[in-house]
Amino acid sequence: MSIDIYWRIGMEGDHASLRTPRRYNRGDAAGYGPGNIAPAVRAGELDGYSYIDHVAAVARATESAGFLGGLLPSFPVTEDPWAFAAALARETTTYRFMVAFQPGFLHPVQAARMSASLQRATGGRLVYNIISGGGGPAQLWWGDKVSHDDRYARTSEFLDVLRGVWDGDPCTHDGRFFRTEGAALPPGLAGQPFPEVYFSGSSGAAVQAAGRHADYYLSWLEPFADLRAKFDGVRAHAEKIGRTPKFAVRIDILARHTEEAAWDEIRKGWAFVDRDAANRAAQGDSVGAGRIKGWVPETITGYRDLEVQPNVWCGFSLIRGGPAFGLVGSYEQVAQRLDELIDLGVDAFILAGNPHLEEAYRVGEEVLPLLGRSRLTTPAPVLTNAL
Ligand SMILES: Cc1cc2nc3c(=O)[nH]c(=O)nc-3n(C[C@H](O)[C@H](O)[C@H](O)COP(=O)(O)O)c2cc1C
Repeated sequence: MSIDIYWRIGMEGDHASLRTPRRYNRGDAAGYGPGNIAPAVRAGELDGYSYIDHVAAVARATESAGFLGGLLPSFPVTEDPWAFAAALARETTTYRFMVAFQPGFLHPVQAARMSASLQRATGGRLVYNIISGGGGPAQLWWGDKVSHDDRYARTSEFLDVLRGVWDGDPCTHDGRFFRTEGAALPPGLAGQPFPEVYFSGSSGAAVQAAGRHADYYLSWLEPFADLRAKFDGVRAHAEKIGRTPKFAVRIDILARHTEEAAWDEIRKGWAFVDRDAANRAAQGDSVGAGRIKGWVPETITGYRDLEVQPNVWCGFSLIRGGPAFGLVGSYEQVAQRLDELIDLGVDAFILAGNPHLEEAYRVGEEVLPLLGRSRLTTPAPVLTNAL
């Protein structure tokens, strides 16, 4: 069995460590400020280095550190993943772009053409992270008031239409959310490999739609027993319609030479706990986010309270926003936990750490080899037929 390992891109900016949370000092994502790694002031002038330059450095580091590619998340606070994927395509060779997007805000024919163009231009390096939306202010940002379960109905219809036009035969569709008449991709674009579909959501509606569409069912990290039960549910549902999805987990990694050094980083970051910010970020109707919140106690006497099983810590969201769970420990311990997850049925990981550039090298050099490189998917040479 071969495991696909991706590394996240900080599309909202990149901070230097858990000790500098929400101080985005890599590139100009949060404007130019003293102490930024880049851009720099040279002879009184800014050197023109922008955030895409930093992200390109992360993507190249990700590629050379042995990852298959990167996840480009999409939130109101981020850059646009489609635009960034196109910009990064010529900066990398084998790097796969996992573009997160909400199907509701894009016409499926437009999505098909954009995707096919990217597939042709990159030799098939586009991967989808299909987001159906978590409600709350982030949904209203898009002006979207469609109900929780209907968002999954919309996602399903979107993917049906997108697949319908993909092979080049004319597709006519008059549905609840989308319409098209005689749409077909032009011959030069038709027939590219369809992007792999990563699909997330913990609600009943999500699990049902994932059964139909997911190549990989994607979850945030949870305690391992809960993750196993969740995957069993998705598997059972998919099997009823003759499908067998694979499983993927998104995990923050804080790994150091020793376990003590890793916890010491957490201890220093703990000074910046901001529960209000974490609660604001979790507003909405996401069942998955609600599940995660349930593991974070209201009263916390110390950061080790949040170690729900060895090396599995659910306090990341309190320090830097984002998902709560990650792995904290020595390189060997973190590799062991990843191995346990593989044994539990995980086929792909999306790993992350701050700062994304340096931590890509660290995790690539120190942790991935302990899994045994033979277990990891080696990127195939890319043949581009358009460039
Ligand atoms: C690993 C992972 C990554 C996600 N990335 C994004 C993202 O980039 N943008 C976003 O708006 N939602 C993201 N989500 C949210 C989900 O796609 C989904 O909209 C949300 O969990 C609500 O689903 P539920 O109520 O079925 O649990 C992500 C979820 C997971 C598990």
